[in-house]
Amino acid sequence: MSKKNRIVLAYSGGLDTSVAIGWIGERTGAEVIAVAVDVGQGGEDLEVIRQRALDCGAVEAYVADARDEFANDYCMPALKANGLYQGEYPLVSALSRPLISRHLVKAAREFGATTMAHGCTGKGNDQVRFEVSFTSIAPDLDCIAPVRDLALTRDVAIDYANKHKLPIETTKSNPFSIDQNVWGRAIETGFLEDLWNAPTKDVYSYTDDPTYPPLPDELILTFEKGIPVAIDGRKLTPLQIIQELNARAGAQGVGRIDIVEDRMVGIKSREIYEAPGAVTLIKAHQELENVTLEREQHRYKRRVDLRWGELVYEAQWFSPLKQSLDAFIDHTQGYVSGDVRIVLHGGRVTVTGRKSDTSLYDFNLATYETGDTFDQSHARGFIEIYGLSSKLAAARDVRFRHGDAFEATK
Ligand code: ARG
Repeated sequence: MSKKNRIVLAYSGGLDTSVAIGWIGERTGAEVIAVAVDVGQGGEDLEVIRQRALDCGAVEAYVADARDEFANDYCMPALKANGLYQGEYPLVSALSRPLISRHLVKAAREFGATTMAHGCTGKGNDQVRFEVSFTSIAPDLDCIAPVRDLALTRDVAIDYANKHKLPIETTKSNPFSIDQNVWGRAIETGFLEDLWNAPTKDVYSYTDDPTYPPLPDELILTFEKGIPVAIDGRKLTPLQIIQELNARAGAQGVGRIDIVEDRMVGIKSREIYEAPGAVTLIKAHQELENVTLEREQHRYKRRVDLRWGELVYEAQWFSPLKQSLDAFIDHTQGYVSGDVRIVLHGGRVTVTGRKSDTSLYDFNLATYETGDTFDQSHARGFIEIYGLSSKLAAARDVRFRHGDAFEATK
């Protein structure tokens, strides 16, 4: 008997990917290896998920604890880049796909698989992120998406699970499509597809309603070279810091986001996010950059940050340009060290203090009190020369009776 092909499936433990195990086997004749990656999504015990994959017919099932790796190598670069797509979305799902892909490829090598599989539909960004990541890491591997390519719709999945008595709940229908990890939580579909519908309470799980918050929560975040290293002087890992802030900022309702987003496939979609830790960290990090980055480097970095976020959103985590921007961003973080004091309250993160040995803030230059070392007599000459080209252009406008300066004379 010839050896069967093997397929590695990105397994979540949910209905679709549980059914996909048998479905892929029947349609392709291949053996399925289920791989689940822990990126801090919480919920079910991963050993339960692993056993379920085996019960659903996987020949191998494997669970990777990638929480620290995710925090260190994916969330921290996103923080250094102040990564916010469309100015608001902290790239929660976009960050996890490349990491999950890496673990899937590792499993493919280990178990001799030639094909990768994921449970994404054909309408979203995640299919692109998985497949572009796979090709970027392992160009020799193929990929199939049973929901998209093998007609595995929701109804079909429910029927299949019932018929084969798969150990998975099919009755509890969640109206939303949810993806979550330690950097945040994404909620879409269901009644949220009507843009006018306000999110209801049951949409949220990482955050409490900010309307009636507990007392304000003040804390000091310490950064070293752009990375948070302590809360109130307690040394913690990036993962621990994100987790603690998720709890504390989440209790204050910080980090709720409701936006219409431009997807890669061209459609606009309504997305709700909750990212209390990420939003808090980005706010504090940006403020420390305000204090420590030189003006021109800072202005330029804001544009790089924007592009970095777009690239990561658009499945380019492993691309050459993204890697080059990482190098630029890393270089800028050399002096981004110090303390930021913040207050979390009623859905808001407020910075109330900053302190840094590598600050560019010079009290004596900035002060209006005694001790001023800024020589104001230089300002006149500076402005004279700085404004010279505009002055020449304005004079020409008047001569030729044309343009803004002339209009102003009328
Ligand atoms: N729209 C967001 C993104 O593209 C969230 C995706 C969430 N994924 C999901 N399967 N529900 O990053």
